Amino acid sequence: LGVLLLWAVFGYFLGSVPFGVLITRAAGLGDVRAIGSGNIGATNVLRTGSKGAAAATLLLDGGKGAVAVLLARALAAEDAAQVAGFAAFLGHCFPIWLRFQGGKGVATFLGVLLAVAWPVGIAACLTWLATAFITRISSLAALVAAVLAPVWAVSLGWGAVAVLGIGLAALVLWRHSPNIARLRAGTEPRIGRR
Ligand code: G3P
Repeated sequence: LGVLLLWAVFGYFLGSVPFGVLITRAAGLGDVRAIGSGNIGATNVLRTGSKGAAAATLLLDGGKGAVAVLLARALAAEDAAQVAGFAAFLGHCFPIWLRFQGGKGVATFLGVLLAVAWPVGIAACLTWLATAFITRISSLAALVAAVLAPVWAVSLGWGAVAVLGIGLAALVLWRHSPNIARLRAGTEPRIGRR
């Protein structure tokens, strides 16, 4: 149990690095929390007008989730990998550096899934892409991808990661409460718009 706790702490701190804030600041784009939805994720970074900064945020926020999983798997075991991945996701959503006011976890969720069970991760990414392509609404794509992730896990034969998938999906949904309210009101912006 001590080992799992250690990987949880490691995952949390890796996940808590707020790349969206760091990248926008480093690129001279100001504080991403002061624009658009106020979120620190790639979707909101895109609202600064910089596709490069948004792509870097997406890759690094996803990457930190994947790295947490892969390192724990390489140095410990599969249960540690799942714990580290879940902790990285929590770190992104509730980073100590931002007084626990973090992101919505979509990129990190996808990165963790890709590293834990790549077919499920790919299915989730494709679900996000297809929904985003059709609706042009990032939050809606995230909600559909989150809800379907456990379904993909079970139907692709990765039942062992279904519990992790449900946990991640529930938190993604919860973190999107303001988006869900805007979706219902019909005021949620399309990708790239403020
Ligand atoms: O990655 C979060 C996305 O699903 C929604 O972002 O900024 O539109 O709330 P945002």
